[in-house]
Amino acid sequence: MPHNDGVRVRLAAARDVVWLAQHDEHLSSDVLFNKVGAGEVFVAEVGTELAGLLRVDYLWSRVPFIAQIRVTEKYRQLGVGRALVAALCDDQRAKACGFVVSSTTGGETDPLAWHKAVGFVPCGEVTGIDGPGSVEVILRRDL
Ligand SMILES: CC(C)(COP(=O)(O)OP(=O)(O)OC[C@H]1O[C@@H](n2cnc3c(N)ncnc32)[C@H](O)[C@@H]1OP(=O)(O)O)[C@@H](O)C(=O)NCCC(=O)NCCS
Repeated sequence: MPHNDGVRVRLAAARDVVWLAQHDEHLSSDVLFNKVGAGEVFVAEVGTELAGLLRVDYLWSRVPFIAQIRVTEKYRQLGVGRALVAALCDDQRAKACGFVVSSTTGGETDPLAWHKAVGFVPCGEVTGIDGPGSVEVILRRDL
């Protein structure tokens, strides 16, 4: 498949929750169902197949934060992750939001490089937030 060709991103619907629960190990189906209802989950489709998800939380109830982004292995490196981020950015721009935030575990070079490739800039580190000795790199993308 050519890069980015045929990738379609939309808000997730109730019919996607079973697939989401299989690919987003952090949340139960019930919680995912509520997140989908709140319009806080995007899915990417390639043809009729689901290829990725992006789930957003809100820091301080107002700053959009990518709580989860995952592309199935089959569809990686084809622009699906970039398309998911673009959909989130379009959505937040329409809501007059000026930036979105994400994070990655310190020392994980691939996720950090990917975030930079899709327009995020590191803006700080938080230590100890996910257990003693943990480091989380915070990234920001202006809209
Ligand atoms: C990270 C992830 C979401 C990227 O999704 P993807 O669809 O493969 O990424 P894309 O194809 O949209 O890549 C967009 C750009 O990032 C670059 N990129 C992708 N993976 C990269 C990597 N590991 N290192 C550096 N750059 C990378 C691509 O080359 C592409 O650049 P280009 O458009 O200039 O060619 C996917 O690999 C994934 O689900 N990984 C497992 C879960 C995970 O790590 N989530 C993030 C945790 S913070």
